Amino acid sequence: MLIQDILRRKRNAEVLDADAIHTFMRGVADGSVGDAQIGAFAMAVVLNGMNREEAIALTEATRDSGQVLRWHDLNLDGPVLDKHSTGGVGDLVSLVLGPWIAACGGHVPMISGRGLGHTGGTLDKLEAIPGYNVTPDDDLFRQLVKNVGVAIIGQTGTLAPADKRLYGVRDVTATVESLPLIVASILGKKLACGLDTLVMDVKVGNGAFMPTPEASRELAEAIVAIGSGAGTPTSVLLTDMNQPLADCGGNALEVHEALRLLRGEGRDSRLYQVTHALATEMLVQAGLATDAADAATRLETALVSGEALERFSRMVHGLGGPSDLAERPAHYLAPAPFTTDVVAPRAGTVNAIDTRALGLGVVELGGGRRNAGDAIDHRVGLSHIAALGQRVEPGQPLLRLHAASQADAEAVTRQLGAAFTLGEADSVTPAAPIHATLRQETSS
Ligand code: URA
Repeated sequence: MLIQDILRRKRNAEVLDADAIHTFMRGVADGSVGDAQIGAFAMAVVLNGMNREEAIALTEATRDSGQVLRWHDLNLDGPVLDKHSTGGVGDLVSLVLGPWIAACGGHVPMISGRGLGHTGGTLDKLEAIPGYNVTPDDDLFRQLVKNVGVAIIGQTGTLAPADKRLYGVRDVTATVESLPLIVASILGKKLACGLDTLVMDVKVGNGAFMPTPEASRELAEAIVAIGSGAGTPTSVLLTDMNQPLADCGGNALEVHEALRLLRGEGRDSRLYQVTHALATEMLVQAGLATDAADAATRLETALVSGEALERFSRMVHGLGGPSDLAERPAHYLAPAPFTTDVVAPRAGTVNAIDTRALGLGVVELGGGRRNAGDAIDHRVGLSHIAALGQRVEPGQPLLRLHAASQADAEAVTRQLGAAFTLGEADSVTPAAPIHATLRQETSS
């Protein structure tokens, strides 16, 4: 099959069969398809779309373009499951959820990413822990997934290599914004981890990857249909990103917050609610709980017994971090040298938060990258972030800045203050943390 013929058919808005899509993606992975052809393919898909069957074939071809992890030879005593998020600010769910699910009998091989744009990355957070190695060898990864139940590590070159090339070309050819390409990219990587089930957290709001609530919903529906169509039962929670999920952002600060949750504290937070809802969905979907009430009982036991925290500690130590991080976090997670509060200029209720601006503030403080390869300052970030609907008086903090220096703090103070819109009392009702749950054939 000629690659230029596949391109011609998609250019003419014809439907590609699975064979053509697999042939194309194999060529992307082995280098026989050139960058110009990849760009032409991506542009044709952006302009002419793909039907469901094509999108499923593209996802499967992405998944199968490299190594697909297999777990059956390990004789695991529970299902292999995972959660993935479209990314946000103060979204440290993975750090808590992975160990929590492990403590409930699941096995979580979580391949995570680094910060992208204004969003934080799980790997960057974990690298705030001295010694934590996000690139262990295969044997150690598998041993931790079997014995501890969870290992959170970085993308390996062998998983879904076609996506790496395709994404690189999309990035420079204005072809990122295409639902089938986005879904194949996200799910292809996840499904290559050999999962029995997957739960996705699709963010909605001004800090979300998708630009509108309608687009987030459309992505969620496509993920459920295509993930399940590719053979992995997949459900989606649409969750709110009109404000940071935790009241903090920044790598070491978010590890502190994860430990707090794993100790059973902070249960009134939106972060807890979203993490708990995702965990419930995962346990029920994978058959580790019979229903939501059963899942709640199991999750509570895992938390109060200390088992979830124990799993986190074993994962950290297994990957080269200290064995007593949970007991002495302040000893290992260095604080920023300079802290100061950004205060409210007048009285009011927090009516809107520019979540993206807060995420970019963390990046500007050095907690994220301006360019790929930049070093990260894990100490810096934001804490005590005021919530939507919160009343503040003049001079009261909107957030606390953790910076490497006073000059760094001053450089972002104005823009971070401007991220908060203050209005009249009670003029806004914040959105619920969880907007909807979507499952195959059913939604609520
Ligand atoms: N994240 C991905 O991994 N791929 C996309 O295409 C978009 C977001």
